[in-house]
Amino acid sequence: MILRHESTRQTPGGGANAVFNLAKLGAQVKAVGLVGKDDQGRSLRAMFEAVGIDTQGILEDADRPTVTKTRISGHSRQSVTQQIVRVDRKSDELPDAALQGQLAHYIHQHRQSVDAVVCSDYGDGTLTSPVIDAALGHARAIVDTQKSLHRYQGATLFTPNLPEAEKAVGFEITDATTLRQAGRALLDLTQAEYMLITRGEAGMSLFDRQSGEQTIPAFNRTDVFDVTGAGDTVVAALTLGLIAGASPWEAAVLGNLAASIVIRQFGTTTTTVSEIRAALDSLLEGE
Ligand SMILES: Nc1ncnc2c1ncn2[C@@H]1O[C@H](COP(=O)(O)OP(=O)(O)OP(=O)(O)O)[C@@H](O)[C@H]1O
Ligand SMILES: [Mg+2]
Repeated sequence: MILRHESTRQTPGGGANAVFNLAKLGAQVKAVGLVGKDDQGRSLRAMFEAVGIDTQGILEDADRPTVTKTRISGHSRQSVTQQIVRVDRKSDELPDAALQGQLAHYIHQHRQSVDAVVCSDYGDGTLTSPVIDAALGHARAIVDTQKSLHRYQGATLFTPNLPEAEKAVGFEITDATTLRQAGRALLDLTQAEYMLITRGEAGMSLFDRQSGEQTIPAFNRTDVFDVTGAGDTVVAALTLGLIAGASPWEAAVLGNLAASIVIRQFGTTTTTVSEIRAALDSLLEGE
């Protein structure tokens, strides 16, 4: 394999990928979070502002670096780009109490003016208790967290992936029965109205308190190059669907469709309403 030094392309990752996905789908987004006093923080803010994202809620943390994930990849002429290693730069410390309070205050001030609050928690310390409490003060709170789902008790809808769901319930999901048990257990644990377990190549399953579960198969299983960040795309499209009046099932289908597009490309990527519409048309033509 010939290794190529890829040009150093920077893209928003982690929670910033969810923000970016929302904006590219046409939403007006107020981003909330922390960056370090560093070049990465400045360039993330610039990338956001270039697509019209309001960055007033992005605060600077002088004690911690902007979380940065560097993916070193290579490719040869006959193969797709493949990741070799990832190097992360982050702090294990929590932001100080004053900063936590400022984030919470910003959310508190602005939550009445938005249609939904999305909590994208990659475990890097931004979502501390005061921040979560402020976010859950919104009637439509969507949560995508890698761990500790119980901290978001009372949110509207969660989107754990399979490993996250298994970790939260403490058993493996191996078949339809354990999947159903996990869905129920997660609804109990979080007191949520809906639980959407995203299941990689198996698509996703939506659970609610009344009517049981609905499974949506993955729409694209052949042109899959990189699934990184697909969950962020799901959350973004699904949230906008709900805001626009779709049922949770319809919103999940939109999320699934949006994910089927971004997994065609290397790295964390975004999609647009017109791409989703085209994907839907070709899906329906294939029926
Ligand atoms: N290998 C795959 N083949 C087809 N579709 C996939 C595949 N992986 C993911 N998807 C699509 O993307 C959606 C979300 O993927 P997944 O469950 O892996 O989320 P995730 O692990 O939270 O992603 P990430 O954390 O990287 O953002 C799935 O529900 C499915 O629609
Ligand atoms: Mg995820």
